[in-house]
Amino acid sequence: MTQEGKLDFGDVRWGSVEWTNLATLYLRACESRSSRTILGDDAAAEAVDRIDYDWAKMRRYMQPWANQWLVALRAATLDDWSADFLGRHPNAVVLHLGCGMDTRAFRLHPPQDVQWFDVDQPKVIELRRKLYDDRDGYRMIGSSVTDPGWLDETPPDRPALIVAEGLLMYLHEDEVRALIKRLTDRFSNGELLFDTLSSAGPRLSKVFSKGIVTWGIRDVRELERWSPRLRFLEQTAALANYTRIPSAPLRLLYRLMSATSARNYDVLNRFAF
Ligand SMILES: C[S@@+](CC[C@H](N)C(=O)[O-])C[C@H]1O[C@@H](n2cnc3c(N)ncnc32)[C@H](O)[C@@H]1O
Repeated sequence: MTQEGKLDFGDVRWGSVEWTNLATLYLRACESRSSRTILGDDAAAEAVDRIDYDWAKMRRYMQPWANQWLVALRAATLDDWSADFLGRHPNAVVLHLGCGMDTRAFRLHPPQDVQWFDVDQPKVIELRRKLYDDRDGYRMIGSSVTDPGWLDETPPDRPALIVAEGLLMYLHEDEVRALIKRLTDRFSNGELLFDTLSSAGPRLSKVFSKGIVTWGIRDVRELERWSPRLRFLEQTAALANYTRIPSAPLRLLYRLMSATSARNYDVLNRFAF
């Protein structure tokens, strides 16, 4: 039986890609309810409230008390970089690749003239459309980012902010190269924000996660050689801002992780073109 007035997400299969999107949405919602929230993702909390799903089971499985922080820290750095770009380019086009159920388009409150595109696989966008509608300045595109066709739907004559969070590690290197080339060929200037896993990522994934991670990179500056138009701006560890975590024991845990090679496992990168 579904809860009255709520959106029925009961057919989202446990462990599926769509489920992983609900899991990170749930973690961002939990973190936004913390009294000293880092991300302040009220839109995620609202979305979770509107969805009928077995959130109690999700809570037991995802253990938000421990796991919400990394998700929030990673998203907050990408939000800060995005807000900085949009502050300088209030007429930008934003391509949010592999958006899943992320609410960046709403929590950043982009300037009115921005055209925002949330892009993900068709099944994910189908689910997302249960929650959100296209509207002026906001559109969803259901397509693989590796399919060249979807880019034709975006205006090429604006500064472009391209954000890919938790996406590129699931592509193959030749797909990442081709995607970056298509993006930098289409727009005359912009920024590309994305996270990467270390080159150990695919090897570890073979052991721990059925090989779903297919791309990792040791030195992200290599991308400047792939595309001469790309200029490296900065890189930071996903957990770099752990001092913002309000819980002292978890801060300590993240501090210890930061002191090991785990610090460089997931890093956030910012390039201009
Ligand atoms: C780990 S989730 C991250 C979702 C979201 N960015 C977040 O941080 O919550 C990875 C997302 O990438 C999407 N994805 C993977 N391969 C893709 C592709 N080739 N084209 C478009 N989206 C893809 C998946 O469907 C999924 O929604």
